[in-house]
Amino acid sequence: MKRTTPVIPAEDVRRQTEYCAQLRALNAEKPAPPLAYVDTYGCQQNEADSELLRGMLCSMGYEIAGTDQGADVIVINTCAIREHAEQRVFGNVGALVHGKRKNPRQIICLCGCMAQEPHVAEKLRQTYRHVDLVFGPQQLWRFPELFRRVYLRRGRVFETAPSDGAIAEGLPVRRSGELKAWVSIMYGCNNFCSYCIVPYVRGRERSREPEIILSEIRELARRGYKDITLLGQNVNSYGKDLEGGWDFPRLLEAAGAIPGDFLLRFMTSHPKDATEKLFDVMAGCEKVAPVIHLPFQSGNTRVLQAMNRRYTREQYLDKVRALRARIPSVVLTSDVIVGFPGETTEEFEDTLSLIEAVRFDALFTFIYSPRKGTPAAEMPDPQTREEKSANFDRLVETQNRISLEKHRSYIGTVQRCLIDGAGKDSRSSLTARTAGNRLVHLNGDSSLIGQYADIRITDCSTWALFGELA
Ligand code: 5AD
Ligand code: SF4
Repeated sequence: MKRTTPVIPAEDVRRQTEYCAQLRALNAEKPAPPLAYVDTYGCQQNEADSELLRGMLCSMGYEIAGTDQGADVIVINTCAIREHAEQRVFGNVGALVHGKRKNPRQIICLCGCMAQEPHVAEKLRQTYRHVDLVFGPQQLWRFPELFRRVYLRRGRVFETAPSDGAIAEGLPVRRSGELKAWVSIMYGCNNFCSYCIVPYVRGRERSREPEIILSEIRELARRGYKDITLLGQNVNSYGKDLEGGWDFPRLLEAAGAIPGDFLLRFMTSHPKDATEKLFDVMAGCEKVAPVIHLPFQSGNTRVLQAMNRRYTREQYLDKVRALRARIPSVVLTSDVIVGFPGETTEEFEDTLSLIEAVRFDALFTFIYSPRKGTPAAEMPDPQTREEKSANFDRLVETQNRISLEKHRSYIGTVQRCLIDGAGKDSRSSLTARTAGNRLVHLNGDSSLIGQYADIRITDCSTWALFGELA
């Protein structure tokens, strides 16, 4: 397929497989299989990347461990979206120094979005000398090669030069679940929202080929996966770099035509290019779950403009109307940022009123966190931390009330749910998810895990529904 973004030649990917085989042979000489632990921070894209890292580590002869205790290899897959996430990583990476003192042959790797930030790489180089390998998201496919360099004791390796990225196919994957699977459909972001670090660390938008994605979904369906989430920083940009007229609605429709008893989800959708065509496909395709995550970020048009979001408050509300006209019961979730530089309390009131107008099922709420290198980090930011926190608390309170009201409306209904795991408290031995991805607690036999069941909703909280088998 012709395209405008680069693809890693199959030969180069095959070479990585050879490095894996070499390392597997070396590891096979050890008395017991060595252990590797992969710790993941941040978004679903990172979860999906960690499944590739685990796949490569298995190919290198490692057994995957559930903890860093006693691990021969530790990989920290990091997130740079907010300061708080970075501080947690630095804290946890710092603590690894003790284990490494006891086991100097341990190999510690740090990858993901933080690795791609120049000031982070510098800090790791200077003060976190127990970290052996640092590489950015665009180098993930070269992990075996980079890891081998460290393994053969050629010192520390930093592979963090800026990179637009390319598409690499054919890497081994080790999926974490047997019911739910991630399928990356594209990488990178070209939107440059003024607060966001992602376009700087994850490179330019590039799409995987539709045939490869569809055959991956076919295979997952054949193996009995019940819940498949298509992933991309902005799935609505899918196909812009491909010839042949592919776009996200067409891909979703083609995926929905694959036989099998599964549901399709996707994230994330930028509102500016969530089209009526997409809503039509969602409405018309039984396999597409009636749920969409549509981050609005702010309810004030001036703030949206300063954020470089390229839609207005009214345009966002119009999209929601168009969506609900087609799927009245659609589950709608969103992201919002409080305290963007220069946001006044009046402008924040517009965010509150948008929440009241839309009534999201759930909201991910964030206080603005300045990210070095982004335009917003240079904008005047006169509001105090206390004012931002007070607004944030009002926002959370408002949404919690709405979430509870929305959940109450489920009581008495029967929902077809996927029973997806064991419960954690006395009120429920099982957990399940509605088609709209609402969490349901219920009692039942563990043999039901992995099956669809009709559940009557009997009670709720702000965060979850409670029910019984109908
Ligand atoms: N500060 C606070 N929140 C942010 N997000 C992205 N960048 C920042 C930042 N600098 C939020 C947005 C995005 C979600 C994944 O994280 O709401 O949709
Ligand atoms: Fe960040 Fe905006 Fe791209 Fe989302 S669309 S990853 S918020 S720049």
